[in-house]
Amino acid sequence: MSDVLLVEKLDGHVALLTFNRPEKMNALNQEVRQALFAALFDLRDDDDVRVIVLTGAGDKAFIAGADIAEFKDARPVDQYRSMQRGNIYSAMEEFPKPIIAMINGYCLGGGCELSMACDIRVASSRAKLGQPEINLGIIPGGGGTQRLPRLVGEGQAMRLIMTGEMVSAAEAEHIGLVEKIFEPENLRDGTLEIARTIAARSPIALQAAKESILAARRMPMDEGLKFERAWFGLLFSTADKDEGVDAFLNKRQADFKGT
Ligand code: COA
Repeated sequence: MSDVLLVEKLDGHVALLTFNRPEKMNALNQEVRQALFAALFDLRDDDDVRVIVLTGAGDKAFIAGADIAEFKDARPVDQYRSMQRGNIYSAMEEFPKPIIAMINGYCLGGGCELSMACDIRVASSRAKLGQPEINLGIIPGGGGTQRLPRLVGEGQAMRLIMTGEMVSAAEAEHIGLVEKIFEPENLRDGTLEIARTIAARSPIALQAAKESILAARRMPMDEGLKFERAWFGLLFSTADKDEGVDAFLNKRQADFKGT
């Protein structure tokens, strides 16, 4: 296991992944990206883990962006390829289990892009979010120009990406960049409660929900509705559906197995 990314399996089928370069504000370098890939690869087939939570070590940063030190001598073709081949952001989106970003501080550049590739963003009231690449004379390269407008609308995305300015957690919540805010001291418990609530649902139904919601990005409405209907029908073949319906009818808690 790499020490730039700590992997902990917690109660309630939740895995907590912590970016661990606090002295560099958890800046995202190649080593961290590879460690995240490897961890997701392992967790994908681990039936004991149903929800992933990502956070940053220390109390300052989730991730303060791509490691700018790696930009200094980077060749254009390498930058292009590193974003194309093995794109971690797309891998997270395609990951069959829910991923929650627990944003504990600065969430900038590639960090903000990473949080947008998660399914849900929960932030500390002290967090600051933004896409400051324009200050370096570049633009977001990890999907920021595509995912940000989908979350907050084109105008707000233009404002954030063109000014490069950070927004507070409160403003991020207001524009739809984060879904929930907690005071710093409650962030971990509050986020894990959300994670455990989700992890108690049927894993197959969760995958169906994630794939169907994301399908809306690339499909016109009628195709998306068909896609949803296919998943909806398929779920009627699962033991989890029988369990969920039986639990409701018998006024008991469902125990979903993912089958
Ligand atoms: N890449 C590489 N190193 C980074 C970094 C990044 N994205 N963000 C922070 N660091 C490093 C700093 O260089 C510093 O290292 P040092 O102690 O060896 O000098 C350390 O992390 C602490 O950062 P510092 O700037 O001293 O902290 P601060 O509290 O004054 O400011 C930030 C915090 C996040 C506002 C500031 O670090 C910053 O603007 N970072 C860059 C954000 C950015 O542009 N990200 C997009 C990259 S595409």
